[in-house]
This record gives sequence, C-alpha cells and structure tokens, in this order.
Amino acid sequence: MSHWQQPLWNWWFVSAQRRVRQIGTALLVGAPIFNKLSASSRSCSSIFIFVFLKQVYPTVGRTFCSTIFVLLSFLFYLQCPHLPPPIPDKRVSLIRNPQPSSVYNHLRMLPLPPLGSLLSAVLVLSAPVQGLSPGLANRNDGNAVGHVARAATACNGSPLLCDRAYSNITHMGAHDSAFLRDESTGNSIAGDQFFNATRALTAGLRLLQAQVHHVNGTLRLCHTSCSLLDAGPLDSWLSAIKFWMDQNPNEVVTLLLVNSDDVEAPAFGQAFETSGIKDYGYTPTSSNGTSSSWPTLQEMISANTRLVTFIASISSWASYPYLLDEFTYVFETPFEVTSLAGFNCTVDRPKTLSSAASAIESGRLPLLNHFAYTTLTSSILVPDAGDIDTTNSPSTTTTGALGRHADTCTQQWGTKPVFVLVDFWDRGPAMDTADRLNGIEAEARSSSSSGSDSGSAGSRLYAVPGALTMAISVLLVGGWII
Ligand SMILES: *[C@@H]1O[C@H](CO)[C@@H](O)[C@H](O)[C@H]1NC(C)=O
Ligand SMILES: *[C@@H]1O[C@H](CO)[C@@H](O)[C@H](O)[C@H]1NC(C)=O
Ligand SMILES: *[C@@H]1O[C@H](CO)[C@@H](O)[C@H](O)[C@H]1NC(C)=O
Ligand SMILES: *[C@@H]1O[C@H](CO)[C@@H](O)[C@H](O)[C@H]1NC(C)=O
Ligand SMILES: *[C@@H]1O[C@H](CO)[C@@H](O)[C@H](O)[C@H]1NC(C)=O
Repeated sequence: MSHWQQPLWNWWFVSAQRRVRQIGTALLVGAPIFNKLSASSRSCSSIFIFVFLKQVYPTVGRTFCSTIFVLLSFLFYLQCPHLPPPIPDKRVSLIRNPQPSSVYNHLRMLPLPPLGSLLSAVLVLSAPVQGLSPGLANRNDGNAVGHVARAATACNGSPLLCDRAYSNITHMGAHDSAFLRDESTGNSIAGDQFFNATRALTAGLRLLQAQVHHVNGTLRLCHTSCSLLDAGPLDSWLSAIKFWMDQNPNEVVTLLLVNSDDVEAPAFGQAFETSGIKDYGYTPTSSNGTSSSWPTLQEMISANTRLVTFIASISSWASYPYLLDEFTYVFETPFEVTSLAGFNCTVDRPKTLSSAASAIESGRLPLLNHFAYTTLTSSILVPDAGDIDTTNSPSTTTTGALGRHADTCTQQWGTKPVFVLVDFWDRGPAMDTADRLNGIEAEARSSSSSGSDSGSAGSRLYAVPGALTMAISVLLVGGWII
C-alpha cells in the first residue's frame, strides 16, 4: 500500500512543486522576450509550453487545467502561420468559395502572447501549492516550500476553515471506523468500512467513531461483542491516530467513542496516556456545552490541542478533562435506520431533549447519523452495503442520499450538521457533501474514493490575488518592452 504512505507522497509534491515554480519563474521572466519573437515561432511554441505545464503538474484541478489547455491550444493553433491570414470581409463568398467567418478573423487577431502570459501566471501561481501537504506546511525544510507554506496555511483541508469556529464546520465522520470489511476481517459483514481510520483521515474525514468494550481488564475496539469483530486494543488504535496527527500538525481530529461497558474515565485515560495522544486533548473552557465557547480551528492548532474526544457516555473526571461526555455537547439523529426513506432530523439522543430546537438552543452540536442497516433476521442488523452509492451520494434530490438528508436537517434546524457519520465513507464519496456544506470547492481535494491521492490534498492556497498582480505586471512590462 505504498501509494498512500505520507513521506513518499509528500516528497513527490515538494519536488513537483519546486519544478513548477522554477518553470513558472522562467516563463514569467521570459514572457516579454517571448513577445519579441517572430509571430510564427511564438505561436507554435506556446502550445508546447502548455503541454509541458500540464505534464509537470498533472494533478492540479484537472477540469480547470484541461479546459484552459484545450482553449489555448485552439487559439494558438489558429495563429499558427500555416493557416491563411485574416481575410478582409469583402472577400467572403459563402456559396462558391466558403471562407472562414469574421469570428475566425477576430480569433486570429487576438493578442495571444499577453493572454498566454496571464494564464500561465494564474496557472503557475495557483497550481503548485494545491498539493502542499498539511504535514509539510509547518516544516521549514526548504526555501521554496517554507515560503509557500507560510503563505498558505490550511486547516482541515482548506485555508477557509482556519478562522471558523470548530462548531461552524461540518466534520465528516466514519461510523464504526475501526470495524473493517476487508481482508483483515475476512470481509466480515459486521464491518462498516472498507478502509481503516488512517485512510479515512488521509481522505479528509475528521471524525472517527468506534465502540469500546472492556475485556479482560483492557479496553478493546469490538463491534457489539469481541467474538463478532475484534479490532484490537484501544491504545494501539489511538497510537495509529496519534501517528497521523504528528505527521499532520494543521489538522483537528474528533473522536467519538461508545463506552459500551460503562467504564469510568481512568480506564479511557490510561489508553490515551499509553498512546501519547492525550497531549493533543482539547479541554473546553465551558463545561456545559455552550456552542459559542468553541474556538476556531486555528486557535486549536496553535495551542496544539487538536483532538476533541467525546465519549458516550462518561462522567467527567478532573484528571482527564479532555474526555468529554458526548451528550453534554452533542445531540444525534436516530441511528438504527433500516430503509433509505427512514432518515430524518428528529433528536434521538440525549433523551432529555424534546426537540431539535431545544437541542440547538442548549448549545449542543448536531450530529447527523447517516448510515442504513439491512435486516438479516428480526434481531440482527448488518450495515447496508448494497445501497451505499445512494446512501452516501451528494445528491440533494435523491431519497436517502446524504446530500438531501443534510440539506433537510439544515433547513429544519436552521444550522448545518457539525458532525456526520457514514458507513463505507469512500463511497459517494461522502466527503463531497461535507465540502459542499463547508463551502470548499470540490477541487480542493482529490477523489477520496480511490483513497490513493487524497492524503496531501489538504492544503490549498488561493493565490488568485497574487497571480493577478503578477500577471498585470507581466503585461505592463511586456507591453513596455514591445
Ligand atoms: C460560520 O461561518 C460562515 C462562513 O465563514 C460565516 O458566514 C458565519 O457567520 C459563521 N457562523 C457563526 C455562527 O459564526
Ligand atoms: C491502517 O492501516 C495501515 C496499513 O496497514 C496502518 O499502517 C495504520 O496504522 C492503520 N491505521 C489504523 C488506525 O489502524
Ligand atoms: C479474555 O480472557 C479469556 C480467558 O483467559 C480468553 O479466553 C479470551 O480470549 C480473552 N479475550 C480477549 C478479547 O482477549
Ligand atoms: C453555560 O455557561 C455559560 C457561560 O459560562 C452560561 O452563560 C450559561 O448559562 C450556561 N448554560 C447552562 C445551561 O448552564
Ligand atoms: C424519525 O425516525 C425515527 C426512527 O426511525 C422515528 O422513531 C421517528 O418517529 C421519526 N421522526 C419523524 C418526525 O418521522
């Protein structure tokens, strides 16, 4: 599975980024000189420059890049010298000797080199940073990289989220994130996910839910019972998550652990200490769940308290202030839905709340449970993988689709879900709905369904203002030289 190992991938991004920046600089400096070339040589070589750019930067917003490329290639092609020159309108004789229209003439006469410089500048300046991994963003291990990183801080996948309160972001989550339906479990039908929690984080999910059982004196991640599906000790799982957080210092992660055997906080605290993840534990300033007390992601990142841990349920314990009782801070929609038409926005837990309005009033953060079960027998429910493409779809019109459920509840509650839990998160892909709710362009992340290239897609610099300034200077300088 080397394709998603962080270090290699990061290295690739850094080197690609450097290459693009070098080429970009050469191009920008060269543009005015380029404009001095003869019309024939500059027109045709422009095409190759764009082919080259696309080659060295293959992953930037593919639609954007391809559209620009196709458009420019076409325009440059029109200016190539082997084509007939612009035709005086009077010579047009449509019937006997069809001539290119006057649109053709206009296209032939467009000032393409300056236009090309401008678009190159936009491409070059907005492209390279997209792939910069959050993990690298704070690591000062190279001049160019360090420089870009400081300008482009992204939090949880986007610079747009840094200044937003934790409670004003939709955190996409993997339900039963430790319970896999893969080779490691013999494709157990009790498994809820095709890929593990590290992979989920890498794809942009920031909420991991799991059930915890107390067996033989230790806490283990087991689905319903350890004989059904045992995903190992809690502390090992926490270590793997801590490892990812170490590598990705700009990411805020939330855990939601079900305390199936009602153990007290010290048992959990021990696993958090053994794994070392407790150092990231966030402790709210107000312990009564008032939403206005949530900090921004940047504040949590700066303080390096980037792990929010909810436990359902637990009583607070002074030595483990970062272990938060879930239902003091969160309310949930129903979680045992057996038909795609059954998703709704009713408050199911905590039972003390009478309505969503009162839940929101209380400052609790809404959690949307959006996973379905199929009934094996009247008492056995298994995760519904058969309908998963519908269930996790970003569609806002299809019954049972995540996009629609999220919109319905946003409307009913007057606020977005802060947490969403899905099964088989890679399908849909579920992440698209969270990105939409968060107002992040879909292009900011690569496809999460492959799971292969999304790890470092977290950061993105919106360098448009810089690019425009640069492009305008290039145009001015170019115009002046000519
Ligand atoms: C949530 O974030 C959006 C986008 O930045 C902002 O417009 C809105 O005012 C924020 N809401 C709250 C309650 O802070
Ligand atoms: C997920 O699997 C990878 C590869 O087997 C492993 O390195 C990683 O620790 C796992 N993550 C978790 C949370 O178990
Ligand atoms: C707990 O201990 C019993 C008896 O020693 C053993 O049979 C069982 O496998 C243990 N369970 C786990 C999950 O390790
Ligand atoms: C929660 O705390 C805030 C500020 O500390 C306070 O204004 C509010 O009344 C409290 N709410 C409840 C339900 O205790
Ligand atoms: C929402 O779904 C739950 C569980 O299926 C059900 O008990 C409840 O009545 C539903 N709420 C509404 C308003 O239909």
